[in-house]
Amino acid sequence: MKALGIEGTAWNLSVGVVNENKVLSHISKPYQPNSGGIHPREASQHHADNIASVIDKAIKKAEIKPTEIDLISFSQGPGMGQCLRVVATAARTLSLSLDIPIVGVNHCIAHIEVGRWKTGCEDPVVLYVSGANSQVLGYRSNRYRVFGETLDIGIGNALDKFARKIDLNHPGGPKIEKLAEKGNKLIELPYIVKGMDFSFSGLITSAENQINKKPKQDISYSIQETAFAMLTEVTERALAHLSKNEILLCGGVANNKRLTNMLETMAENRDARLYKPKPEFLSDNGAMIAHTGLKMYKSGIKHTTNINIKPNYRPDTVEVRWR
Ligand code: ATP
Ligand code: FE2
Repeated sequence: MKALGIEGTAWNLSVGVVNENKVLSHISKPYQPNSGGIHPREASQHHADNIASVIDKAIKKAEIKPTEIDLISFSQGPGMGQCLRVVATAARTLSLSLDIPIVGVNHCIAHIEVGRWKTGCEDPVVLYVSGANSQVLGYRSNRYRVFGETLDIGIGNALDKFARKIDLNHPGGPKIEKLAEKGNKLIELPYIVKGMDFSFSGLITSAENQINKKPKQDISYSIQETAFAMLTEVTERALAHLSKNEILLCGGVANNKRLTNMLETMAENRDARLYKPKPEFLSDNGAMIAHTGLKMYKSGIKHTTNINIKPNYRPDTVEVRWR
């Protein structure tokens, strides 16, 4: 079977075509804000302007005819409502005009499934760290359960927010990483872990208060050391609690080398192993939506074209029938 998947929950409009064995094509057209963070109206306009051509390019690159596609999958949520609507409308149009089934996919679960597919790990504790999302998940009794998550903002948005304060444009995470490499003095910032949950907004406010007092590279270094230690602690506790020995790192912030190192060290100390897909499958991408939709469909999940978008779609509300 061949599935075409459309991703567009936030900044990246991306379309992938996959079959059961491989990614046949995978085309992205990211929205880049001129200033500030992501503006939902502008992002959705960007998606609307480009979605037809990105779909067209993905089909051509896969070297197939539109009539050879067997299934349409789309990211149903979580994400920005206006962006999700553009994606859902395009997916429905394709499904109706080609007269093929449609499946709505939970974006967080798609990150997990593409990670399992591309790294070969089987039953990991997942650390999903992106702009809007920061969660520690694991599979138990037919669901991806959320064992810990942010109580306020995602770690990526936290890094982007601090970056904007020091005049670095979006996305700020990679720029903070570069600055942090030059820092070496640890400034005390709030380390907030409550039970299995964590919080970043107090940490960022406290870091912002240091801007005119301490070198930017030391503040960046301290943000990373503190925030990533919080994430590593909760991931380690989830591993112990669930008796698992695989960790899957995914989401845009997973590109960060320091976070990867910290998790690797923790994994080594516990005889566990860290898995991380290639960068193209870490950040938001259409192939992960196509792949997950295909798994869902083959497990017997069927949707109709009047399927709704879900801006606050939680992964633990989805019954996982394909594992
Ligand atoms: P989601 O819809 O899942 O929240 P997203 O729209 O935030 O996804 P992603 O590509 O998963 O998209 O993540 C983007 C985030 O990753 C941005 O906040 C960006 O600053 C951050 N990021 C990217 N590379 C790095 C890096 N090397 N270090 C730290 N953060 C990074
Ligand atoms: Fe994502």
